[in-house]
Amino acid sequence: MSRCIAVVGGTGLCEWPGAKLLKSISPSSDYGEPSAELQQIEYEGAEFVFLARHGNGHSIPPHKINYRANIDSLRQAGVTDILAVNAVGGISDQFVAGVIALPEQLNDYTWGREHTFFDGCGGEVQHIDFSYPFSEELRLRLCAAAERGGIDIEPYGTYAVTQGPRLETAAEIRRLARDGNDMVGMTAMPEAALAREAGINYASVCLVVNPGAGLSDSLITMEDIQAVIDTGMLQVKSLLAHCICG
Ligand code: HPA
Repeated sequence: MSRCIAVVGGTGLCEWPGAKLLKSISPSSDYGEPSAELQQIEYEGAEFVFLARHGNGHSIPPHKINYRANIDSLRQAGVTDILAVNAVGGISDQFVAGVIALPEQLNDYTWGREHTFFDGCGGEVQHIDFSYPFSEELRLRLCAAAERGGIDIEPYGTYAVTQGPRLETAAEIRRLARDGNDMVGMTAMPEAALAREAGINYASVCLVVNPGAGLSDSLITMEDIQAVIDTGMLQVKSLLAHCICG
């Protein structure tokens, strides 16, 4: 089967400047409206499907995203592999602002989200294996692309997925650190699990955009986060293009 790669862009990557739009795909899903239309685009020789997770103009907060419609639409479009982009806060020492991390584990602290296709509303119930939530094959492919492109990455890490949209308290970050988390974001779940249920390979490219709450001398400001996004997302886009071309 030939591969069809999609990029699901998050905060800081709601659109893809510099890309050539090849085709807009109006998605169809039994699960309602996805965040945005799917776009077949080309960037630096890489062709892929792009979906803005938070909608165009970043209008949908993490807990209101229709993750099921997003993943189902990508499945309907024939997508076999998802490269998800996530902005995160750093927890462990080496996960400082500007670092690009490729997590291989996660802890799910979200609640109240529609998180499964197997919800007992018709059809069979399946209990998917989720021991290793990210595709190791895609993570290694991203590592190789980083090497080829001369892009620094942190190749491992555990991603804590929190409910948001607020950031954490300093005490919550201390607890997440005790739980063994290296970074914290709001969107990898239920997205990763739904992709597994849908039979789509899934890897996450995380850009650390701020130190976790209480880990630096100053409060977290959107201006500081935006400054990291402005430079970091260029690197993330280059990494993705190298990965898709390779
Ligand atoms: N916490 C949770 N999600 C985030 C953060 C954070 O500090 N930064 C970016 N997304």
